[in-house]
Amino acid sequence: MKKIYIVGAGPGDPDLITVKGLHILQTADVVLYTDSLVNEELIAKAKPEAEVLKTAGMHLEEMVNVMVERVNAGKMVARIHTGDPAMYGAIMEQIVLLKKEEIGYEVIPGVSSVFASAAAIGAELTIPDLTQTLILTRAEGRTPVPEFEKLKDLASHHCTIALFLSATLTKKIVKELQAAGWKDETPVAVIQRASWPDQKIVRTTLVNLDEDMRKNGIRKHAMILAGWALDPTIHEKDEYRSKLYDASFTHGFRKGIKP
Ligand SMILES: C[S@@+](CC[C@H](N)C(=O)[O-])C[C@H]1O[C@@H](n2cnc3c(N)ncnc32)[C@H](O)[C@@H]1O
Repeated sequence: MKKIYIVGAGPGDPDLITVKGLHILQTADVVLYTDSLVNEELIAKAKPEAEVLKTAGMHLEEMVNVMVERVNAGKMVARIHTGDPAMYGAIMEQIVLLKKEEIGYEVIPGVSSVFASAAAIGAELTIPDLTQTLILTRAEGRTPVPEFEKLKDLASHHCTIALFLSATLTKKIVKELQAAGWKDETPVAVIQRASWPDQKIVRTTLVNLDEDMRKNGIRKHAMILAGWALDPTIHEKDEYRSKLYDASFTHGFRKGIKP
């Protein structure tokens, strides 16, 4: 079956694409990319004779028609998505239309902005005894969120929450997390354009989130990470330790030391 490649470009820094993704980008005859979010420096690594097309101004059918036509002409097509294609990548609607044309696909994962954001602030999102769960979600705005996924309900788990596409919805975020019993002083980190040269980091608390976002002029391209794993002083404490490296904890690769 003929196929296209759906490649995760990573969060911005051109070095954060996978080796496999880069190889496909450098080999492809046709490259389609989300020009609003993917770094041009990365796209410049396509071979000089490649046809490079920006997709921000295209609608779905237009984009898929280009892919179908080029694949049927025997060309190798790479569709480059920001971060990891599985998160808010709108890939399924492309795949459905491609399938109708008997064209398959292979997805090459990428570094999602959620992990580039955690890296930017040196955070671990799952801290032993504190939280072992990370929820990836978005606040409800113009795009509806299914009934059972309301932020207030998700927040009842008091785990780490990563909010994509929510920079203009901070008032709502604060209200919903407070309604779930989150304390005003719960740490929140906002990372705008993680891994880009103009990356911006704002450390705040739940109650100050809206004002601090406004003060810093952050309205888009930002990841909001909330929960006690984001405590900026956590590095100074030695309260949370995993079992994995506990000297008395035996596992397949190490025998425990008797206390
Ligand atoms: C359409 S979604 C795409 C997400 C992407 N697939 C990923 O895995 O990161 C766009 C949203 O992702 C987040 N985002 C993308 N790149 C980012 C970056 N470099 N820094 C911070 N947030 C980013 C923002 O919340 C933005 O509104």
